[in-house]
Amino acid sequence: MSDWSKARAALEAARNIVVLTGAGVSAESGVPTFRDTDGLWHRFRPEELATPEAFRDDPRLVWEWYGWRRERVAACAPNAGHLSLARLALGPRGVTVVTQNVDDLHERADDEMQPGTGGAGPLHLHGSLFRSRCTACGVSYPDREPVDATDEDSLPRCPACGGLARPDVVWFGELLDEDLLRRAFRLARDADVCLVVGTSSVVYPAASVPRYTRAGGGFVIEVNPSRTPLSALADAVLQGPAGGMIPPLVADLWSP
Ligand code: OAD
Repeated sequence: MSDWSKARAALEAARNIVVLTGAGVSAESGVPTFRDTDGLWHRFRPEELATPEAFRDDPRLVWEWYGWRRERVAACAPNAGHLSLARLALGPRGVTVVTQNVDDLHERADDEMQPGTGGAGPLHLHGSLFRSRCTACGVSYPDREPVDATDEDSLPRCPACGGLARPDVVWFGELLDEDLLRRAFRLARDADVCLVVGTSSVVYPAASVPRYTRAGGGFVIEVNPSRTPLSALADAVLQGPAGGMIPPLVADLWSP
């Protein structure tokens, strides 16, 4: 049996599916990945832009970069991969998307498939480009405004207390939200299938999600044009782009 047939059979039999996504699921929408040759970490230095120390030293520079990413993502649209996953979630199977991405393309795909409902949305393990958090009072709030990073006085401010806001994302050296992570691991352990799409599987703890599914006796599918450290552990490895592979892989699984 080919990996494709095994993957399809596992999905057909599954009652609960966890989908773990990384930057690759949004690549065909025009959102840059991190570690591919044209990825963000080849053009920018993470220690200057994505650490608490970088923000403390130069909040203007950090906001400028996140403002640019916010604008870039806002100009992109969900691709066939996001849309098929959103459609899968409308079917009889329990489907939870756990994403490392800070873009909002899963939410927008949900909204396109089921207008107006808002949907449950994915679990954003690494936060969101479209939320900010106050460095003074800690409140986190939705924020889709363009960022004015002309100088420190023009940077985003907390609507509650006026303190300096920061992007509500997880930076290097910071811990993930514990409740969210626990929820993701529990869902993965109870899932019949973990479908892992477009991640290099090198960043922990997110990369542990499929390992919980394996530990719980479930089936792991990897979709990625390249091999990763997960490939050797996955039950089925489907080499190709998300937008081309996901639609045929989940076709018709939304019908009861
Ligand atoms: P990476 O940039 O590390 O990996 C992207 C993966 O997507 C690679 O394995 C590519 O082969 C694959 N890929 C590229 N194009 C694809 C396509 N069209 N379809 C499917 N896969 C494709 O991105 P992540 O694994 O998401 O963390 O990185 C994990 C974390 O590292 C990010 O969340 C970010 C980063 O530092 C934080 O910012 C906290």
